[in-house]
Amino acid sequence: MCGIIGYTTRKNNSVEVALNGLKNLEYRGYDSSGIAFFDGQNVDIVKSKGKISNLDEKLATMNTDSCCAIAHTRWATHGEPNETNAHPHHVGDVTLVHNGIIENYAELKEELISKGYTFQSETDTEVATAYLDYCYKQTGDKLKALVEATKGLRGSYAFDVIYNDEPATIYATRKDSPLVIGYAHDGNFAASDISAILNYTNKYSLINEGEFVKITRDIVTFYDSDLNEIEKKSQTASWDAAQYQKNGYDHFMLKEIYEQPKAIAGIFDRYYTNCTYSDIDFKSFDKIHIVACGSAMHAALVGKYLLQTYGKIPVMVEVASEYRYNEELITPSTLLIVVSQSGETADTIAALRLAKEKGAYVVGIVNAVGSTISREVDKCIYTYAGPEIAVATTKGYTTQVAVFSTLALMAMKQNGVLTDEKAQEIKEDLLSIESKLQNVIDNRDLYLDIAKDIYTHNDVFFIGRGIDSAVCMEGSLKLKEISYTHSESYSAGELKHGTISLIEEGTPVISIATDEKLYEKTVSNIKETKARGSFSIFVTTDMHKDQCSEFSDKLVVLPKTTDFTEPILTVAALQLIAYETAKLRGCDIDKPRNLAKSVTVE
Ligand code: M6R
Repeated sequence: MCGIIGYTTRKNNSVEVALNGLKNLEYRGYDSSGIAFFDGQNVDIVKSKGKISNLDEKLATMNTDSCCAIAHTRWATHGEPNETNAHPHHVGDVTLVHNGIIENYAELKEELISKGYTFQSETDTEVATAYLDYCYKQTGDKLKALVEATKGLRGSYAFDVIYNDEPATIYATRKDSPLVIGYAHDGNFAASDISAILNYTNKYSLINEGEFVKITRDIVTFYDSDLNEIEKKSQTASWDAAQYQKNGYDHFMLKEIYEQPKAIAGIFDRYYTNCTYSDIDFKSFDKIHIVACGSAMHAALVGKYLLQTYGKIPVMVEVASEYRYNEELITPSTLLIVVSQSGETADTIAALRLAKEKGAYVVGIVNAVGSTISREVDKCIYTYAGPEIAVATTKGYTTQVAVFSTLALMAMKQNGVLTDEKAQEIKEDLLSIESKLQNVIDNRDLYLDIAKDIYTHNDVFFIGRGIDSAVCMEGSLKLKEISYTHSESYSAGELKHGTISLIEEGTPVISIATDEKLYEKTVSNIKETKARGSFSIFVTTDMHKDQCSEFSDKLVVLPKTTDFTEPILTVAALQLIAYETAKLRGCDIDKPRNLAKSVTVE
C-alpha cells in the first residue's frame, strides 16, 4: 500500500534521500509517486504516474537542492492512478502525504465546499489536506491544527505534513497506518517503515496512535494528544540495508525462497529445541480461533490441521475481514491466534482489537519486529524470517507453518499424547528439514519443465485432501498472484460436485498426495480428472514414486517426512512452479499488478 517518507536535513540532499527511501518502499505496491520539497523559497511539487523512475526523470531536469522533502508512493483507492490524484496534495498553507483511507471524506468535502474550498482530485487525501488547512486557519497553531484535524477524521492515516510558513519542519501523526521516526547523522525522518531509511540510519522510534511529532533537522519532539511533550526512547533495528538487496538473485522472491531452509531450521531450533513460549496453556481456553488474511490464513489452515489432528484441540480458522464483524463468537475464554508477516494488516489488527475488547487472550505469529500487531497482542511469537520484499510471500508463509508445527507439538505434550517414540521421530524430522528443503528447492529444472507445460493455459486447478488441501490453497494463490493465471484450489473430493465441469482436454491439474491415509482417495480423484482429459501434475512423496505413471504426466517427488514439515517441502515446490510460470509469462514477479505487500486499509 502507499509508502511515505519525509526527511529534513542540515544538507541540501533531501530530495535524493527521499527518492532513495521511496525506492525501498516500492515493494509495498504503488501505481504513482510524488514529492514536495522546499527549494529555499517555495514548496515545489512533482508527481508522476507509474514507476518511480518516471518521477526521477522529471526531477533530473530541475534544481532539487533542498533541506526538506516529503514523498509518497500511491496505491490507488479513491480515484484512478494519475498525476492529479497522486500525492503530495497541497491546499492553502498545507502540503501533505498520506497512507490510509479517510472514511468520512465525502461529508467533510461537502462541509469544506460550503466554506469555499475547491478540489482538483478525486481523493480522500486532498479533503484531509483542506481540512487541516481549515483547522490551521482556525487555530493559528500547527500542532493544534493537526490535533483538531485528526479529531474530525474517521479512518486510517499516517501523515507527513509541511506548512508553507515553516517548510523545513515536518509534522507527523498516525492512526491504524504505520509510521516510524528515524534519527540520522545529518537529519531526521518520518517514514512508513524502517526499510525506507535503513541506508541512512538504524535508529528509530515508533509513534503510538494519538501521538504527534514535530521533526526538525536537529530535534524531534513527541507530544500526546493534549500536546504535552513526551519522552521517547530510540531503538536499533536488527535488520540491515544488505537484507534489502537481491544479492545476485534475479528476483527478491527467488532469494526469499532460497532463504527458507535456514529460516525454518531457525524456528525449530528456537521454538522446539529451546521452547520459549511454553507459558501458553491450551487447556485454559475453551476454544481457539486463528485469524489472518491471504497466505497467512493458509498457514493458519495448516495450523488448524496440526492442532486438531495431533494436539487434539478443536480450532476455527476465519479470514480477518469477516471475523472482525463477528463479535458474538468471542468470549474471555477464547484464545485468538493472529498470523501476519507484516504485522500491519488492517483487517487482522481490527480482529485482534475486537478480541481484546471482548476479553480474549491474543497470541500473534508475526515477522516484522515492532509492528503494530507485535505490540498489541498479549504474546508475540516472532517468525524471524528477516525482511520479505517480494509481494508474494514465501518464507513469511513457511515460517508461520513452522511455528504452528511447534505449537501443535506443545499441545501434544500438554495433552499427554506425545509418546517418546513419536517425539523421537518428529525430532529427527525437524533436525533434517534444512537439507531436505534445500534439495527440494534445488530441483529447479523440473519446476521449469512443469511451468513450460502450464504457462500458456488460462486455468489451472489444484487438488488435495487433508493437510495437502490447505497447501493447495497457498500453491494456487502463489500461481495466480504472480503469473496472473486463473487457478482454483479444491479439496480433491469436492471437485466432482461442480467444478469438474471446467476440466477439458489439456487443463492442468496439480494434485498433491503426501498424506498416506488419504493417498488412494486422492488418486481416485486424479483419475476422474484424467478421464476428462486433464494434464496431470502429481506431487507426492518418495514412497509412491514408482506407482504413478498411469495417472501423472509430470511428477514431483518429495522426501517423505512427517506432517510437521511435509507442507513446507510441498509448498516450496509449488512456489517455484509459480515462479517459473510467471517468468515465462513475462510478469513483474516481485511487484505483481494491483497488489500491495502490506494491506493497511480495510
Ligand atoms: O502481512 P500479512 O501476513 O498480514 O499479509 C496477509 C496477506 O495480505 C498476504 O499473505 C497476501 O495474501 C500475500 N500477497 C500472499 O502472497
